[in-house]
Parts: sequence; structure tokens; C-alpha cells
Amino acid sequence: MSSIIQAGFLQTRPEFGAVQANLDHAKKLWGERKADLLVLPELFSTGYQFQSLAEARNLSEPIPDGPTTDFLIDWAQNAGMTIVAGLAEREGKALYNSAVIVGPEGLIGKFRKAHIFDTENNFFEPGDLPFTVFDAGFAKIGIMICFDWRFPETARTLALQGADIIAHPSNLVLPHCPQAMITRCLENRVYAVTSDRVGSEKRVAGDPMKFIGQSQVVDPDGTVMVRASEDREEAHVVEIDLEKARNKRINGRNDLFADRREDLYRVDGKG
Ligand code: ACM
Repeated sequence: MSSIIQAGFLQTRPEFGAVQANLDHAKKLWGERKADLLVLPELFSTGYQFQSLAEARNLSEPIPDGPTTDFLIDWAQNAGMTIVAGLAEREGKALYNSAVIVGPEGLIGKFRKAHIFDTENNFFEPGDLPFTVFDAGFAKIGIMICFDWRFPETARTLALQGADIIAHPSNLVLPHCPQAMITRCLENRVYAVTSDRVGSEKRVAGDPMKFIGQSQVVDPDGTVMVRASEDREEAHVVEIDLEKARNKRINGRNDLFADRREDLYRVDGKG
């Protein structure tokens, strides 16, 4: 199997609460582009700023068998590609800020955002699923969602499990992430596809939100292969070579994984 694949993202401006319109719009914006992997933003089918728990509950869906997951599976089957996308998940009484990975054969898996950002805590439980690398056949794909970027253990865990690509659905509001993801890729020698949204939401008095766009693909050398604008809907596809992510050597003497000093690291904070 070739190690050269096509990976892309869609940067959208969802209309809050208009799930079917957001699904249809994303598919139309993507058009007839061809890719092996497409990454869509966090909460791309609902929008971000819920006004109440009841509203979040009404707009959330079971995974599997919810309308967004079903739509994505149908799209993946028709286009012959793998899609990673963020959506609001409901399981029993609990809501999660989740992402699914679907392919031509159906649902491959899901991930629940581990690090819940600010007011999301009013609605979503912290994710309770382990960081997992999913086998999409053509590549090993790890998922993290937006603010998970701020915790380097996240990308490290996925890379150590063999991720070639980190798919990173996002609704970014802080300015640092696009630059920080360069470091995440450099320190782990992985690709990252961050798919962000644009636009603003002012659904909660005193808490206007502006999303910063700048969706991007970064390679294992930390090169930004493509970065979108801060304010426009955009679709991009780039060719990537997975071999680059599978080789952790950075020179004749150093290997990013073999050189790790697990005997000295203390990530639990105990001396
Ligand atoms: C964020 O985690 N959506 C900022």
C-alpha cells in the first residue's frame, strides 16, 4: 500500500442549531474534491454556543445512529474517503463533545474531548474514552479535539501508539494553537490536520465568541503545508507521505522515541 495519501480539511461557518443545513452545506462546500482523509471542525453540525443544558441536549445525538453520524457515513461511502468530524454526543443523561471517524465501511470509532474548555463545562462531561489510534486502512489516525492541544501528553500519547496523522477538529478561540501545533508535530514527528471554523456567535449575553480559522496541515518536520484564512470558509487537500511520520529519526544519532528518558520523566508530578 502506498504511503502517499491525500489529506484535507474543511473550514466552515456553521449556523447555530441548523443541523441539516450545516451538513448539506459542508458537503456542498467540499464538492467533488478527492481525498483519503477529510477532517471537519468540532461541533460542525450544531455550532458552539449553547444557551442551556436543554438546548445542548436537544441538539446532541447518539453515536452511532444519530443523524450527523449517518450523514457522514453516507458521504464517506459515496466519496470513498474517511471522515473525522466533531459533534455533540448524547449517551443517557450525559453529553460529550465528541468526534467520529467514519469510512466507506461505516463507523470506525469515536473519541470524547478529554479537556473541556471554559463554558463547555456547563454542558459536556470530560471524555471518558482512552486516547485511541484508529486504523483507517491507509493510515493510523489519532483524534484529539480543540483544547486538547494545550496538553502535550495528548499528542504524545497518540504518537506513541503509532498515529501517522492527528485529526484535530477544532473551534479555536485562543490565538496560540496554530503555532503550537507546529511543536506538537515536531516533537512527535506526526502529521496534524487541524480543522477549525470561522465566524462568531453571540448567543450568550456578555460572552461573544470569535473563532480564529487558520485550519492547517502540519508535517512531521513542523512545516505548515497549508494554512487557511482567519475569516473565510475554505477547503484544502494536500499530498502527504506517511513514511515521514513513521521514521522518528532526526539525524544519524537521534531517534525521537528511542531517545526518550522514561527513567527520568515524572508526568505524575511525584519527585
Ligand atoms: C475549544 O476548545 N473549543 C476552545
